[in-house]
Amino acid sequence: MPLKIGDKLSLTIHDIAFGGEGVGRIDDFVVFVPFVLVGETVTAEITEVKKNFARAKLLRVEKPSPERVQPECRYFGGCGGCQYQHVAYATQLRLKHKQIADLFERVGKIPSDKIAPVIPCPQPYGYRNRIMIRSQWNKPEQKLNIGFIRADCGLVEDIEECKIAEPALNEQIRHVRAYPPPKGGIKVVLRVQPEDWDVPPDSFFQNNLFLLPKLVETVREFLRDSGIKHLADLYCGVGFFGIELAGVVESFVGVEYDQLAIKSAQQNAAARKISNGEFVAAKAEEVLGKVLKRFSPEATAVILDPPRKGCQPEILHLLRETRPAQVIYVSCHPATMARDLNILCADGVFELARVQPLDMFPQTQHVECVADLRVGQSLAKRQNMDSNDSTHAHGNTN
Ligand SMILES: C[S@@+](CC[C@H](N)C(=O)[O-])C[C@H]1O[C@@H](n2cnc3c(N)ncnc32)[C@H](O)[C@@H]1O
Repeated sequence: MPLKIGDKLSLTIHDIAFGGEGVGRIDDFVVFVPFVLVGETVTAEITEVKKNFARAKLLRVEKPSPERVQPECRYFGGCGGCQYQHVAYATQLRLKHKQIADLFERVGKIPSDKIAPVIPCPQPYGYRNRIMIRSQWNKPEQKLNIGFIRADCGLVEDIEECKIAEPALNEQIRHVRAYPPPKGGIKVVLRVQPEDWDVPPDSFFQNNLFLLPKLVETVREFLRDSGIKHLADLYCGVGFFGIELAGVVESFVGVEYDQLAIKSAQQNAAARKISNGEFVAAKAEEVLGKVLKRFSPEATAVILDPPRKGCQPEILHLLRETRPAQVIYVSCHPATMARDLNILCADGVFELARVQPLDMFPQTQHVECVADLRVGQSLAKRQNMDSNDSTHAHGNTN
């Protein structure tokens, strides 16, 4: 049946795709519909038709899922910030787990038993400590819209509050609305400074302080388990992981290209009297080789916490060459993470021990993952045999 824009259809939802859209079918032709749940029957209107799939907007839920809940936010569905407020929180966690497991299986042939259940956020609303709002001139209504980009187009949804933001940010939204930017096209970043951390205004800091202790605990457990002595904390921002984990290792080096963040990292370490670490202001891909030369690979772990686009190929290549005992990959973008893990694990150079997802971004499609990679067993054995051979070859009997 050829579909056209404006057609209204009844669809049963079979699955939720990565990113949160429901998957319905007309014969074998896939139709994506947002804000639905598996098992629901909905009426939807086609908004876009492509060769292999179509998109539709939700008009009515005819048969709701028992896992459907009332969204807390009045802008939900219009505002592009959240995708899952209509989904019970426990179901959001299961959904994210399945999506990660499916993605890792597809991209990296990683079996789903390596993916642990998603750790929930103790505060599924009111958790974000940083948001970016935009201004846009609304010509038809002759007023300035202030808020987030809409889900269905590039226009700005005018909002007075954000239910996933911390209360202090909602205060700030009210202030921006009371003293609005002079025109449209302006972005305003609102943030709550974390206590005890020095963070320059434009530098990165983790977005959800409520789940942050679990994130650190996860990485700490992975490090303890491998028993390594040295840590290279790449993309270190204001030194968060290196500083939090300084007590587990003999020494660490943090690398970050934001020079102001590195200054703050030095202050953050000094304020805690941490003296077994050093921070380097540089591009990770340019200094990793030098950093890794300082430590013996079998006693070293590397934390990778890159931006959403993932690691530079040079980094992955160098890690495959130098083979540190452990790589801990932290990411809020599972697709680029799966791509990079695939490269690290090719030919068994690294082996994936486990992936721990954490719900740092409840109500949204996003999820944080921490992967624990160990240098390939067979390779480690081979390396040992090689070094024994060369010791013998050099006649070194000690
Ligand atoms: C996701 S943040 C992680 C920050 C830190 N690990 C934390 O937990 O707060 C990524 C960081 O990588 C930095 N960055 C991006 N590209 C980089 C590069 N090529 N070399 C070094 N740092 C980079 C960014 O400035 C940002 O601070």
